[in-house]
Amino acid sequence: MTQEKNPAFVRFQGIEKRYGKVVAVKKMDLEIPEGALVTLLGPSGCGKTTLLRMLAGLETPTGGDIFIKGKRINDTPIHKRNLGMIFQNYALFPHKSIFDNVAFGLKYRAVPKSEIKDKVEKALETVRLPGVGNRNPSQLSGGQQQRIALARAIVIEPDVLLMDEPLSALDENLREDMRREIDNLQAELGVTTIFVTHDQREALSMSDKVVVMKDGLVQQEGTPEEVYNNSANHFVADFLGHSNFLSAVVEEKHNDVLKVRLDDKSSCLVSPVGNFEKGDKAEIVIRAQKMKLGYQDEHSPEEDMNFFHGTIVDRSYMGGEVSYFVELPGKQVLHVINFVKRSPYRRGDDVYVKVDPFHCRLLQS
Ligand SMILES: Nc1ncnc2c1ncn2[C@@H]1O[C@H](COP(=O)(O)OP(=O)(O)OP(=O)(O)O)[C@@H](O)[C@H]1O
Ligand SMILES: [Mg+2]
Repeated sequence: MTQEKNPAFVRFQGIEKRYGKVVAVKKMDLEIPEGALVTLLGPSGCGKTTLLRMLAGLETPTGGDIFIKGKRINDTPIHKRNLGMIFQNYALFPHKSIFDNVAFGLKYRAVPKSEIKDKVEKALETVRLPGVGNRNPSQLSGGQQQRIALARAIVIEPDVLLMDEPLSALDENLREDMRREIDNLQAELGVTTIFVTHDQREALSMSDKVVVMKDGLVQQEGTPEEVYNNSANHFVADFLGHSNFLSAVVEEKHNDVLKVRLDDKSSCLVSPVGNFEKGDKAEIVIRAQKMKLGYQDEHSPEEDMNFFHGTIVDRSYMGGEVSYFVELPGKQVLHVINFVKRSPYRRGDDVYVKVDPFHCRLLQS
């Protein structure tokens, strides 16, 4: 068997999965560090489940290799991979007791009866449902059933915990509670975890590392802050929410700031992501939350800041924040999100939008 030096805990190397003409995962390289909670984030059909199923041994790769702790596992059968799995619809056995559901993986591994009892009880305590062993799944709520699925996955002390959209069947409040619980439990157990979701908030809030995928390929991987603040391309910036895009041409290069010209001929200072030359066409991305509104007649110019002037064409109150759409003279509309406290503005008001060049990131278009 192939043995690696200095292995990542889980490593996909040139992994590929084809279904006839459909390439679900395209020669992907990915490393999962030991003890980390890594999320695979991407739109429907980008290959998240397929990648997880290949790691679990439920699908055979059509190319590439998978390593766990440096050992190639392509040919290792499912039950010898020592992985805990949780899926969207809990998949508990409806006619078995909770005890038997949680004990399933242990019985399968021929663990002695006395040990099974202790381990199941401990797992139920860990998911904060002690004493429900005699009930059936139908006697528990959705959130409780998902915790049982979690207990069943961790009771075998897996090398890797795999979770495929485990919270999507739960309502929003419960989701948030469960998100926190999974996050805490993972940190407590220190088990290497791969969590699949297409919900960006879920991914950003709980991960050590986020892997953004599209069409079977990794678009960017990094900490939640890195992928959010330094999105590598248009897709990532857009998928992670509330981004404004403006097309621009590079006018002047300074050290770490560029001056670019916008379609309406105004200029703007930006922070480049990568190398640009004078005359290059590019795209500025600005997060809606990074811009501040002010009344035009109170505008006092500040050096090194970008200002856009426009009119509020739409406003919606979102609880803690207000979402504005500001139309610029060139008809481009900017989406701005500001805290309620500093938001007296109404539809029709003439405003300026202020943004630091640091938050205007120039991407290759
Ligand atoms: N058994 C299969 N046969 C044929 N095509 C498949 C099969 N399983 C997946 N695919 C295709 O592979 C691609 C990736 O599917 P996958 O289920 O991995 O996506 P996903 O990212 O998990 O999406 P979702 O967020 O909707 O669950 C899709 O185009 C899908 O239609
Ligand atoms: Mg899926």
